[in-house]
Amino acid sequence: MNEFEKKYYVDRVGTGSIKWDGLKFLYGDSDLISMWVADMDFRSPECVGDALAEMANKGLFGYSMPPRDYATAFVNWEKERHNCDVKPEWIKFSPGVVAGIFHFVGAYTEPGDNCIILSPCYYPFMEAVQETGRNLICSMLKNDNGVYTIDFEDFEQKIKENSVKLFILCSPHNPVGRVWTKDELCTLVDICRRNGVIIVSDEIHQDIVMSGHKHVPTLASCDCEDMVVALTAASKSFNLAAFNHSIAIIPNKELRDKFDAYQKHMHLSGALPGYIAAMAAYTGGKEWLDNVIAQVENNAKIVTEILKEGAPECVITELQGTYLQWIDFSAYVKPEEIKDFAVKECRLAVDYGHQFFTPEAGKTDSHLRLNLATSEENVRKAAENIVKAIKNR
Ligand SMILES: Cc1ncc(COP(=O)(O)O)c(C=O)c1O
Repeated sequence: MNEFEKKYYVDRVGTGSIKWDGLKFLYGDSDLISMWVADMDFRSPECVGDALAEMANKGLFGYSMPPRDYATAFVNWEKERHNCDVKPEWIKFSPGVVAGIFHFVGAYTEPGDNCIILSPCYYPFMEAVQETGRNLICSMLKNDNGVYTIDFEDFEQKIKENSVKLFILCSPHNPVGRVWTKDELCTLVDICRRNGVIIVSDEIHQDIVMSGHKHVPTLASCDCEDMVVALTAASKSFNLAAFNHSIAIIPNKELRDKFDAYQKHMHLSGALPGYIAAMAAYTGGKEWLDNVIAQVENNAKIVTEILKEGAPECVITELQGTYLQWIDFSAYVKPEEIKDFAVKECRLAVDYGHQFFTPEAGKTDSHLRLNLATSEENVRKAAENIVKAIKNR
């Protein structure tokens, strides 16, 4: 165990963790290495626990509002970490990024409108479109032996053909781990601007970026404050998903008013612990986060080395951002076998590639997505299990 693991890695079984305690219910087996839902097996930075303990000790739990320094903590984080200028009045609460996506879809489009995504993509994007009576338009990412790029021609053509109203962007991208470049983002913005498309930019993974790459917030990529809204959270970066707390950034007043009007009937408000936790993390969590990134980077290296050696036909997409490793097993495993391969042969609870496509496109997929925000030992064991399973086929 390295120093970071010694201090922060926890066996989360029995702690009310859906990732570990939900295994029996979700995968039919509790004795698996759990690498599915995107949270970490690491205790959050001490500054978060300390701030929450201080809050608890005060014993003041009445109706609340964002604490005085909350917006400043986030504004400073965005400036220092991402060189993005956010004004305090642009910041809105959402009880989760997925909820925020649903709210944006509801606020900016009507049932029957067309919304576009880049596919494969984090599956709630599809749900936010389809479960609200909008139509889903997919522009497939180009996949050149595991290297993913945007097919800009296809993207623009689909927008034009379908009079698309809204684009839901994932940046960095889950599941393919791309950190989009400034040029790629500007091209997307240009296309959307030409065609009157609003961009919802999900940047929940913004802080987990591997060395050699740089996250560019879409709002900071080029002049687009009139047509881009963003979502992010301390939840992914600092392992705080339990708080149901995220941040919508809406620079344009008209778009902000529409979002407010949409949320009004829900009687939503952020709970104090979420504000306190996020504020503490953004203020004091930098060093902890940098250690997590180093841990994930090392874990990605371990998986890659073990699979390259023992199962060389796997196509391992380079992890540029997120802690979610995307691997193509099609050389070894048929799409219809992939679930049994993961659970029964590899003893892994992971996300299946087909979940990230439409049902039709997913039929031919043999990817697995591995969550690497865990111990080196778990990652090593997972990769070795995969190699053994492939050799035993
Ligand atoms: C791209 C993306 N957006 C949103 C979420 C979930 O956000 P929340 O828990 O705030 O709804 C995830 C979690 O994995 C994600 O990968």
